[in-house]
Amino acid sequence: MDKYYHIVTYGCQMNVHESEKIAGILAEMGYRSCDEPESADIVVFNTCCIRENAENHAFGNIGMLKKLKAARRDMIIAVGGCLPQQMNKAEGLHKKFPYVDIIFGTHNLHELGQLIKQKLDGKKCVISVRESEGEICEEDRPLRTSYPNAWVNIMYGCNNFCSYCIVPYVRGRERSRSSQKIIEEVRSLVSEGYKEITLLGQNVNSYSGDMTFARLLEKIAAIDGRFRLRFMTSHPKDFSAEVIDVMADNPKICRCLHLPVQSGSDRILKAMNRRYTAARYLEKVDALRAKIPDCAITTDLIVGFPGETDEDFNATLDLVKRVGYASAFTFVYSKRQGTAAADMPDQIPEEVSKRRIMQLVELVNSQTRELSKTYVGRTIEILCEDFDAARGLYLGRDEYGRMGYFPSDEDVIGQFVDMKVEHANGVSLTGCIVR
Ligand code: 5AD
Ligand code: SF4
Repeated sequence: MDKYYHIVTYGCQMNVHESEKIAGILAEMGYRSCDEPESADIVVFNTCCIRENAENHAFGNIGMLKKLKAARRDMIIAVGGCLPQQMNKAEGLHKKFPYVDIIFGTHNLHELGQLIKQKLDGKKCVISVRESEGEICEEDRPLRTSYPNAWVNIMYGCNNFCSYCIVPYVRGRERSRSSQKIIEEVRSLVSEGYKEITLLGQNVNSYSGDMTFARLLEKIAAIDGRFRLRFMTSHPKDFSAEVIDVMADNPKICRCLHLPVQSGSDRILKAMNRRYTAARYLEKVDALRAKIPDCAITTDLIVGFPGETDEDFNATLDLVKRVGYASAFTFVYSKRQGTAAADMPDQIPEEVSKRRIMQLVELVNSQTRELSKTYVGRTIEILCEDFDAARGLYLGRDEYGRMGYFPSDEDVIGQFVDMKVEHANGVSLTGCIVR
């Protein structure tokens, strides 16, 4: 009889890709994918803990499975990833949700198959969270779900310890894959027909395999075949002139950069342990624009970091105006137990953070809208990613990361098409294929 799995993923692209690895493990065990937990023999929650609401979201959904599990006692529920990897969280999870069968961390995802076997062999609850990161596992066979894009890890972990961030505690120290393995993986993905490769790492610029990140990018861009190359995330302190040169010289590398600034205030940047000033960040932006004037820059911003005054917040608004981001992810600071900022004085009241985030979102959106307007009438090259059944339109992005929607009689998913932009609506564009 067929057995089915259902995976629920929270958080960043790293998690999305790790869910593909989980799917690969389950497929090798004979499970097939299904869309609903009701039809699944195993449900896996791949969790995130970057902000409190990410945790609460997962808790809510795990809680909702209680009834289903009571009705179908043979269904396996597994909870893995960043949430249980936090100190002492696995035991708390077990207490809160005693009907969860398997709890695993970020460092032993590749052992999920064995953990499932232990459970099937009759173990009541399998809790396995490794404290340290161990060697990189090169054995995974991800079942990719984001064609025509393929995620490729180049490094894992983070050494930066930004004072607000839980990532270094749940992802361990930085380790880089060998360039040979990475290049082999990209080469085979391109030959399989993937059209966009996104290199992943918490801090790709501190890649420390057998060459620098700039050389690695250059080598990957030199692989034969038609594909776009993206990478994320770049820490401004490590983003180098060398990388800018490689981006400028290699047309396969998309003219866009995600460069999280977090704040425009030097005082707050220092307290965040970001190790750059607003001026230094702007120098990097200027250096990038000097070589690639049309480069789209996106960012992450946090409001309400402990001690943030109106003056600090205004410095963030000024920096956003100065850079002119193509888009930005905006977050209210969320206290994470165990991080340095959690113990800082002057935590900001919710109503102040709310007011600030609304103001910031309004500014970012107005910049994005202005940029969208400049697209109308232009023809852009879109890599078609998907079909939006509700709108009856295909969709994809240009190399700058801008989303475009268009009608088409034939299925063009995975193809590069030229779209003439007819309307701009917020971040997304609509138009028609001209070639
Ligand atoms: N609170 C709010 N935002 C956070 N981020 C990381 N940690 C926190 C936190 N504790 C944001 C940063 C980071 C992005 C991935 O998430 O902006 O760049
Ligand atoms: Fe977190 Fe800073 Fe590392 Fe990014 S660089 S993952 S924000 S600690």
